[in-house]
Amino acid sequence: MAAALEYDPYSYELDVDPYPVYRWMQDEAPVYHHERLGFYALTRFQDCLDAFLDWETYSSAEGTVLEFMGSAMSGTMIIFMDPPRQTRMRNLVSKAFTPRRIAALEPEITRIANAHLDALEGRDTFDVVRDFTAKLPMDVISALLGIPEADRDDVRAWSNAVLHREPGEQLPPPESVESLARLSNYLERAIDERRRRPRDDMMTELIHAELPVDADDPRPLSDDEIQRFITLLATAGNETVTKLLASLYYWLWRNPDQRRLLVRDPGLAPGAVEEILRFDPPSQYQGRTATRDVSLHGQTIPKGGRVLLINGASGRDPRKFEDPDRFDVRREIDLHLGFGYGRHVCLGAFLARMESRIATNAFLKRFPDYEIPEDGVERMHSSNVRGLAGLRVEIPPGG
Ligand code: HEM
Repeated sequence: MAAALEYDPYSYELDVDPYPVYRWMQDEAPVYHHERLGFYALTRFQDCLDAFLDWETYSSAEGTVLEFMGSAMSGTMIIFMDPPRQTRMRNLVSKAFTPRRIAALEPEITRIANAHLDALEGRDTFDVVRDFTAKLPMDVISALLGIPEADRDDVRAWSNAVLHREPGEQLPPPESVESLARLSNYLERAIDERRRRPRDDMMTELIHAELPVDADDPRPLSDDEIQRFITLLATAGNETVTKLLASLYYWLWRNPDQRRLLVRDPGLAPGAVEEILRFDPPSQYQGRTATRDVSLHGQTIPKGGRVLLINGASGRDPRKFEDPDRFDVRREIDLHLGFGYGRHVCLGAFLARMESRIATNAFLKRFPDYEIPEDGVERMHSSNVRGLAGLRVEIPPGG
């Protein structure tokens, strides 16, 4: 048996490369238990998949992010609910979050991506996270919701500030709390305006979304519920795409043959997005709380135990993927867990895939030969989100 390794989701050291630790857990400790931090963790693809499907045993209602599990925030957003509450919310918000509405956004996403890239033309170096990938996703969500262009810089700044954490701190700084209040005030007014004067946008559709009268709980969404849902989009749908794009550009640079393939054939971009979701996904684990004693691989997870389903590890499970540590944009993937699975599977997956494809092709078209200097990679630290806080690229003359 290999020497025991520690999986500490708060460790900066682990952030550099968690994958060897995950592999050890898969082989030697498939039901990993961290006594001091008080959690269990599943890392094998099949175990994570089974747990995602078994929401009755693995509850989201106590929260899904380790440091916030059991706190007051739990249960207030769809992502922290179990059926039937989650089912009602999901059915209502899905009425507004239709593939048709999202597909119609393609020209606007292309315009937003190009506008941010236009500003970088002619520069020989820039930070692709701060100057591009951290700007695009919130502007896209704003466009979808119907937030006017004049307000989008403010909404993006508040949303990004809500996510900000000082190095080494798990809890939000005062500026972050203040930005959340500003965002909430703005949304309250925007929802109120649309109640009085409906528009052709997602916010209006959320207000008018209805369930059949014979549904178990047919109440439409309250203003408060709409506001909390939008705040969730401003976090879950914002930081994830920012991090996915930066990780993809990093790994394409590390694998120049793969980058060449993509530059030559933009039709490979959807496959590259799936591969990064398997290989190095932004959302590394989803926390759950066991509602009963669970026996697995000869071990017992007790009722009330906190369990991390490490989907980031599941993508590297050799029991599921051949040569899992190879980054291959042409890999055929039937299923990965980068968007989770089951009842809570990412509601924004279609949007995330579309905007990641558009952004990647637009970026590579302009800057096919970007280089990353030795000190260009700045890693972010978070227990569940993996990615780069900054990625400085250098553009060779004429490239
Ligand atoms: C690459 C980008 C993204 C990744 C990796 C990602 C990942 C995930 C994952 C893993 C979950 C499941 C959480 C759980 O099981 O506890 C989830 C849920 C969710 N995601 Fe995403 N997401 C992304 C982008 C987006 C976008 C763009 C939106 C919307 C604008 C979005 C909205 C949501 C919502 C609302 C949920 C909660 C669904 C529910 O609880 O029923 N996500 N996402």
